[in-house]
Amino acid sequence: MTIKAIYVQPGGGFDNVTLGTCDSSMPKAGEIMVRIRASSLNYHDYAVVSGMWAPSVPRIPMSDGAGEVIAVGEGVTDFAIGDHVVSTFSPTWLDGEPEVESMETVPGDGIDGFARQQVTMLATAFTHAPKGYSHTEAATLTCAGLTAWRALMVDGALKPGETVLVQGTGGVSIFALQFAKIAGATVIATSSSDEKLARLKALGADHLINYREDENWGDSVRRLTGGRGVDHVIEIGGPSTLAQSMVAARVGGHIAMIGILSGVTGTLSLLLALTRQLRLQALVVGSRRQQMDMIRVIDATGLKPVIDRHFALEEIVDAFRYQESNRHFGKICLDF
Ligand SMILES: NC(=O)c1ccc[n+]([C@@H]2O[C@H](COP(=O)([O-])OP(=O)(O)OC[C@H]3O[C@@H](n4cnc5c(N)ncnc54)[C@H](OP(=O)(O)O)[C@@H]3O)[C@@H](O)[C@H]2O)c1
Repeated sequence: MTIKAIYVQPGGGFDNVTLGTCDSSMPKAGEIMVRIRASSLNYHDYAVVSGMWAPSVPRIPMSDGAGEVIAVGEGVTDFAIGDHVVSTFSPTWLDGEPEVESMETVPGDGIDGFARQQVTMLATAFTHAPKGYSHTEAATLTCAGLTAWRALMVDGALKPGETVLVQGTGGVSIFALQFAKIAGATVIATSSSDEKLARLKALGADHLINYREDENWGDSVRRLTGGRGVDHVIEIGGPSTLAQSMVAARVGGHIAMIGILSGVTGTLSLLLALTRQLRLQALVVGSRRQQMDMIRVIDATGLKPVIDRHFALEEIVDAFRYQESNRHFGKICLDF
């Protein structure tokens, strides 16, 4: 069967995005066929599509996919036709210690992703979607949701009463704010926009800082915590934010090294890292088991993602241009 798919041609770039078709085979043993209904944009997808991390072969982009099971291969017991499912970022990393060292197995980067109407993959490349979630809501979890979950709940072992610093209003940071609040933490949130800060407050942020107006925001964070510093930092800026994140962290604090929005190289004060005894913990999303744990908590709490805007699959370039403008608050989604 031939189905609609978006391709990024070698070299990438918005002018190199084409609409085409691809094949979808009936599932073999251990596989499921999924009618993909939604995806969501991440900075990583932007890097692939815009050409920053361009593919060397024609590639179907998008790491996140959600939809319903339409056929089930022999031996699959976890899923049935009609089930709502959501993809995993690292289809080969099912459980245990991190084992993925590159993007070779990541859908939308090393292998074809979910900007297509239908896919047949190993059943273990998916989990069930949260109860009551639309396909679009489920499609926000694969990358942004699980990254925030792992940073705080797995690597950070967040405890009630701790303080979390989240940076900016993208997908990862807003999920981190939401997970931190349901865990009983205090949240300090930053943004470049006062209007977005007001929306962060409405989502439960306890303290707000405009990082454009307050360039020494690390000191402000320390003041807000009575000089102690925060227990956890959701570090998404990279070189332009890490120094202030280290100022903001408490002695022995955890900095989840997630983002590279301002670049991939920079200088690091080893002295501050040593004297503060900081734990700089880098991460790449999470395992299938961690995704299942996160979804169990979503089912129990009713947490819903913050979706800014919806685009059709064919409008994928418009969606990325919108992301590039940084006007979004939370997730940008594709429905198809
Ligand atoms: N390691 C991992 O596993 C992993 C997983 C997911 C994402 N990431 C990375 O995390 C970063 C964020 O991803 P995302 O998908 O959440 O991005 P996104 O949705 O595009 O979010 C971008 C937002 O970040 C804020 N921002 C931009 N530059 C900033 C800066 N210098 N300092 C503070 N905030 C800044 C802006 O918020 P305001 O407009 O409010 O200022 C902007 O709207 C990216 O670098 C991405 O590659 C890593």
